[in-house]
Amino acid sequence: MSVWAKHQIFEKNSIVLLIGILIVVAIGGLVEIVPLFYLKSTIEKVEGMRPYTPLELAGRDIYIREGCYNCHSQMIRPLRDEVERYGHYSLAAESMYDHPFQWGSKRTGPDLARVGGKYSDEWQRAHLANPRSVVPGSIMPGYPFLAKTQLDAKNIAANMKVLALEGVPYTPDMIAKAEADLVAQTDPDSAGAAELAKRYPKALSRDFDGNPGAITEADALIAYLQMLGTLVDFKTYDKKANVR
Ligand code: HEC
Repeated sequence: MSVWAKHQIFEKNSIVLLIGILIVVAIGGLVEIVPLFYLKSTIEKVEGMRPYTPLELAGRDIYIREGCYNCHSQMIRPLRDEVERYGHYSLAAESMYDHPFQWGSKRTGPDLARVGGKYSDEWQRAHLANPRSVVPGSIMPGYPFLAKTQLDAKNIAANMKVLALEGVPYTPDMIAKAEADLVAQTDPDSAGAAELAKRYPKALSRDFDGNPGAITEADALIAYLQMLGTLVDFKTYDKKANVR
């Protein structure tokens, strides 16, 4: 039988052709998927990454509740224009403790993956209350109620327990101290603030909402915004990457 005659078996019989296609596609799929089962992790470990502090975690929940992700992504792509505008492209490790991740592709507003430290707390407060007060012409809605709403954090330890089940390295000690750590982060002069920094390196403790009398939703959200993208030290990260 010539090659052509053999090929006719496939071309003239749709079932045989279909089975042939399935076998070829399955081989392609296996070649791509099977190696992943032998990798311990597809995420490269990066120095500096730590889980969110209880206050940052509460802020992240408000970010999700208010739907900030509808207008803001948190993933800087490795393209020149993005890196020049937002900073170092995002690493997989930087969102490995995010459940769910906030990458997104919709950018009505700018990417927020590295917004931490870009503005003062005062700017963030004014911007959240009324974006037009600091950015004339902004189309972002105002969230003035955040600064007036007491933060409800009674579920914070339970939240951390669930995240620990999902693989976030919260220790029993961190979970036990969750509420104390949350309060300490808004009070830089307290003894708890120093302890917090030991548990969560680089944690910023400040009175984020400018109102020392209360821990509000603005405290939590601004604490979250001010840490975004600040954990990895890219001076040492890039040096190591170049050596490799
Ligand atoms: C309807 C779309 C929309 C929503 C929803 C929205 N934003 Fe924005 N955001 C924008 C736009 C547009 C800008 C750019 C203009 C400005 O700075 O106000 C912006 C800017 C920002 C900036 C400054 C970024 C920078 O690099 O200059 C921050 C921080 C921010 N938003 C946080 C938030 C948070 C937190 C929420 C949720 C509570 C939120 N945004 C919800 C549209 C939105």
